[in-house]
Amino acid sequence: MSLRQKTHDLKKRMQVALQGGGSKAVEKQKATGKLTARERIVSILDPDSFHEYDIFVQHAGKDFDMDKKYLPGDGVVTGTGTINGYPVCIYAQDFTVAGGSLGYMHAKKICKIMDHAMKLKVPIIGINDSGGARIQEGVNALAGYGDIFYRNTQASGVIPQISVILGPCAGGAVYSPALTDFVFVVDKISKMFITGPEVIKTVLGEEINQEELGGARVHAEISGNAHFFAESEAECFEQIKSLVSYVPWNNAKTAESFPPKSPKSREYRISSIIPTDPSIPYDVRDIIRSIADGSEFLEVSELFAKNIVVGFARINGDTVGFVANQPLYMAGVLDCDSSDKAARFVRYCDSFNIPMVTLVDLPGYLPGVDQEHAGVIRHGAKLLYAFSEATVPKITITLRKAYGGGYIAMCSHHLKADFVFAWPTAEIAVMGPEGAANIIFRNEIMNAENPEEMRQEKIQEYKEKFANPYVAAAYGYVDAVIQPNETRDYIIHALKVGKNKQEKGPDKKHGIPPF
Ligand code: HXC
Repeated sequence: MSLRQKTHDLKKRMQVALQGGGSKAVEKQKATGKLTARERIVSILDPDSFHEYDIFVQHAGKDFDMDKKYLPGDGVVTGTGTINGYPVCIYAQDFTVAGGSLGYMHAKKICKIMDHAMKLKVPIIGINDSGGARIQEGVNALAGYGDIFYRNTQASGVIPQISVILGPCAGGAVYSPALTDFVFVVDKISKMFITGPEVIKTVLGEEINQEELGGARVHAEISGNAHFFAESEAECFEQIKSLVSYVPWNNAKTAESFPPKSPKSREYRISSIIPTDPSIPYDVRDIIRSIADGSEFLEVSELFAKNIVVGFARINGDTVGFVANQPLYMAGVLDCDSSDKAARFVRYCDSFNIPMVTLVDLPGYLPGVDQEHAGVIRHGAKLLYAFSEATVPKITITLRKAYGGGYIAMCSHHLKADFVFAWPTAEIAVMGPEGAANIIFRNEIMNAENPEEMRQEKIQEYKEKFANPYVAAAYGYVDAVIQPNETRDYIIHALKVGKNKQEKGPDKKHGIPPF
């Protein structure tokens, strides 16, 4: 063949490969409101930055007439590109080709791009749209999943791993995302389950549709398996781009710095956000926005365990992770889910050199039979573990209540916070004044001529003695009691002087967190 013929041959081969599962399958994909695998990739990456590899890989199935079938690229598109100039490795399963099912070569392609990401030390983004293990390939498909799970685990804490669920993901297709750092879902498009409705009906006789079993909302609000929820694929891609800007390429780097911006002080006047009455709720995200550069805050797991808020912002141009009790929901108590959510986020920040700011306002851990039986001891301990283990700069600010176990768990000095500040509105005590007075002054209240009057008197006495930041400050558990409007300056200073913090724990293979 002449060069011209060879060039023409390559073009023809490319054309065929780029058709994916063919026009009918693509039409079906579009009819369900979904983009194709390549459209998704180019929508996430910078224009013209995508380089595709392994487009000519062929599947290895031999049984059930598979050897007669052509599956372009074996149903997965892989390559490299950039997002706002940052390099990433990426793959997208192509549902138009055998339902994006995972065969041996499909898995090999994913493993290869994951290995590439580990070598280049850049984030890996996986777009999942798959019926799970390719049934015709039997144990080779299962082996493929095992190889991916192993790599997910090895890459954990080394490079950021982002999973995007953009279709029905069943069986093995959900476990790789579960091992990654952030899972993105889109309303009505994403579905995740280990066993689908058909199997559930056969085995248990229960009827449920895909959406109710494992739709985007289910995982963003109830199970907590998804960390970002979007109304459309376009919105989801913007969320991914934003997330990538906040995190470093790998665990040996810090996140990129941006030009510092002041918070929008008109909308977020810090001193007016916290009510003087400690029982009145407020939205702690307004406090975060009053501190953050440009009042911008990327919340993680926004719809799950809303009694705690976690997410990324920048202060003076640098990324920080915020963990904050949310008085708007359940008074900001810690429970099983909120402890899990916060602990995981703390570990993420620590792995990727992101300093943490913890805002405290909570009445403690949630009491109740449900919580005890659900394992609040074990789940709550995850937060103690995560904060104690974290060695990045840790800055804690008590805004209002810090009672009991909640005081300790929310990154107190005792868990090795580096800087602990409190507002004059802070109340740091074993429990709230009402509960405390009822217990320690029980006899005086019971024997008083007017018990209610005596109760109020004792509550007041307790408040004056303990419901303030000064007892903790007297023991050095609070480094400085600061005015609310000094908060950003104190954080900027702490981040500056803490920049070179180095802390090493005892030598060990790894700890045993209360998973
Ligand atoms: C082979 C598959 C497939 C699979 C789908 N297809 N899943 N081929 N292996 N696992 C094929 C279909 O045969 C069909 O091919 C095409 O993909 C599109 O599928 P449809 O069923 O037409 O699409 P839809 O109606 O949208 O339903 C999507 C679906 C459904 C919900 C994902 O296909 C489904 O339930 N698939 C099986 C899911 C499953 O049980 N997977 C195995 C999991 S076991 P044609 O040629 O007709 O277009 C597993 C073990 C790993 O993953 C465990 C690790 C821990």
